[in-house]
Amino acid sequence: FDTKNTDYYRPVYHHTPSYGWMNDANGLVYKDGEYHLYFQYNPYGSRWGNMHWGHSVSKDLVHWEHLKPAIARDTLGHIFSGSTVIDHNNSAGYGKDAMIAFYTSASDEHGQIQCMAYSTDNGRTYTKYEKNPILTPFDGLKDFRDPKVFWYEPAQKWYMIVSADKNMRFYSSTNLKDWEYLSQFGQGYGVQPNQFECPDFIQLPVDGDPNNKKWVMIVNINPGCPFGGSATEYFVGDFDGKEFKCDTKPEVTKWLDFGKDHYATVCFSNTGDRTIAVPWMSNWQYANVTPIRQYRGANALPRELSLYTKDGQIYMAANAVKETQALRKESRSVDNMDVKDEVVIDEIVPNNEGAYELEMDIVPGNSQLAGLELYNAKGEKSKIYLDLKNKRLVMDRTESGLTAFGEKSEPHAIENHDGRKVNSINYQNDFALGTWAPLSLCEGKTYHLDIFVDKCSVEIFVDGGRIAMTNLIFPTQPYNSLRFYTEGGTAKVENMKIYKLGL
Ligand code: FRU
Repeated sequence: FDTKNTDYYRPVYHHTPSYGWMNDANGLVYKDGEYHLYFQYNPYGSRWGNMHWGHSVSKDLVHWEHLKPAIARDTLGHIFSGSTVIDHNNSAGYGKDAMIAFYTSASDEHGQIQCMAYSTDNGRTYTKYEKNPILTPFDGLKDFRDPKVFWYEPAQKWYMIVSADKNMRFYSSTNLKDWEYLSQFGQGYGVQPNQFECPDFIQLPVDGDPNNKKWVMIVNINPGCPFGGSATEYFVGDFDGKEFKCDTKPEVTKWLDFGKDHYATVCFSNTGDRTIAVPWMSNWQYANVTPIRQYRGANALPRELSLYTKDGQIYMAANAVKETQALRKESRSVDNMDVKDEVVIDEIVPNNEGAYELEMDIVPGNSQLAGLELYNAKGEKSKIYLDLKNKRLVMDRTESGLTAFGEKSEPHAIENHDGRKVNSINYQNDFALGTWAPLSLCEGKTYHLDIFVDKCSVEIFVDGGRIAMTNLIFPTQPYNSLRFYTEGGTAKVENMKIYKLGL
């Protein structure tokens, strides 16, 4: 499963399969010093199909070792997304601390049904439960998938949340095999997709207070992204062991990431006080046609999730895990500067392979707009800026490099980063656009930006992840210059550091 790389756009430090297609992260679990990243995998080609669970392991969340696919497609169908738990109390009877995986088998013949497999060799190989499926929809739903199983301490039981068309359904079990239906939630809440996918359900302290915890339901929706295609929303609320009650009105939507390439995000099991999520870094609008051949699909950086309060509301921050600091190879500091009009940095890093991190504080002062443009000698560029007038953080990839691929379409209007309707580039995928996030999520005055660039991606984390924004880009050579610019005033750029990143 390790082959020599032949793709120019293969990320330097993001996880990708050596060969084949990858979508959702699955079955994320930590055990005995290893993070297991299973993933939706086609070992036979670089487009979606033949779904298996691929498998990689890491000791630190940034260096990954490819292992053999763990669960292969069978007569019940594709092996779709799901989760893995460590069976500490031997509830299922496969031994203390056995790893138990839950996934959806999907086929035209049998529909979407939940199945189970167990591993007693630290997740290397799995044996499928001989009486699969363990759960079928009581009402014959067509879309019924992506089981996330977790231990619910107050009831001393296992719980499962499954996406069930326009809802998420909760079930409970004592032996992980027999499941009892409890309730459902989702219909009418947030942005409504055709059907929900890949739910997760986690409990987190609010503002770091262990005595004040809230439940968060993460759900992935496709379509429904404000910029087209796939995106991840979440609901904050309470859970009484039977039903989830959302704090906010149904029309309130909270996004986990404000880019266009963040999907199917779920969290690791068994990580103690930490909650670590791993996104798939693509969008179903164009995931199958990105300009890559040998493999397709990368994970965005693992993110640490936390809850914070702003203006009386609870939001979830998603920040790059601290382990990413191990990727920093060379660093340099840039003197604090006042930016009126523009300041150029000619060379971001020497021998630039397109993998670096930029960290800085921007104090916009009286400017109306303050930000930076990353560019190369071909004039390809990505802009990242604070639009203070409209109170938005914007990333504009309109001229980022290759932006048109896949199916041609009739010209149609799409919304650009500034809310203007523009004509699309005649490709269905609407890649050439900007994405934006509300600055009201931050405290204001100073904005801490941590920007990760890697060959074909940009991830922006503002103020410790209060805003996360993940976007693919396909520049035909690395951006190695940078221009700070402002409009209507002077901004300060302070505490800037540039890191060359590598494994
Ligand atoms: C989400 C998804 C899941 C499904 C999997 C199939 O991207 O559609 O709902 O389990 O992909 O590969």
